[in-house]
Amino acid sequence: QQTGRLAGKKVVVSAGGTVEPIDPVRFITNRSSGKMGYALAQAAAEQGADVTLVSSSELPAPVGVAMVPVQSARDLLAAMTERFEDTDVAIMAAAVSDYRVATPADQKMKKNADHAGLTIDLVENPDILATLGQQKTTQYLVGFAAETQDLLTYAQNKLEKKNADMLVANDVSKAQVGFGHDTNEVTLLQRDAAPEKLPLQSKLALARDIMSRIATQVEGK
Ligand code: PMT
Repeated sequence: QQTGRLAGKKVVVSAGGTVEPIDPVRFITNRSSGKMGYALAQAAAEQGADVTLVSSSELPAPVGVAMVPVQSARDLLAAMTERFEDTDVAIMAAAVSDYRVATPADQKMKKNADHAGLTIDLVENPDILATLGQQKTTQYLVGFAAETQDLLTYAQNKLEKKNADMLVANDVSKAQVGFGHDTNEVTLLQRDAAPEKLPLQSKLALARDIMSRIATQVEGK
């Protein structure tokens, strides 16, 4: 029997940068170590939740967390939508590629003999957070915004357009913030509440703070 503020709740967290193949040896990805998503999964497990981490990162799973490995945005969409109906909290910490290669090559691509440049056609990927936002019934849906300018304007826009309940905004142009670091600094946006700034601290300490705000919204429901 689990104890904790999220005992009996199911939490699904996505982490890492999606991987979009160009050919069998090359790919396009987004910067993301997975550390922020893993810290959130650990913080949810500490609060007694039943946690699944859908991840393209190769970091080892936190104790007590179920892992679902994925590569592309479309893999991630399938893994998230499959679990969403039976989930209490879904958190999109993954850095999803907005585009993928239209037609990945079956064989390794060779250099052009005439030394000309190379153009690769990209097509738009599905927006997973927005898809979950459309399917949402009772779930509490959390998105992230990684921005390099106008952080709160873009984050507020994402909260509303993607129908999320909470948006965690990080300014990844700042030192020690965002991709790869062991620390992060974020502003939390929730509907009908003033933005709340959480200061620079370890990703695990920050994840525990974020999870405590989420628990306040979902416990007893
Ligand atoms: O993994 P780390 O190295 O620890 O770094 C953490 C982080 C910086 C990756 C993390 O804190 C973070 O900000 N993750 C979201 C990165 C991102 O893709 O942000 P975005 O502003 O492009 O996307 C907004 C939201 O929509 C995100 O929740 C994203 O998961 C989601 N999205 C984006 C595009 C898309 N096609 N589908 C999506 O679901």
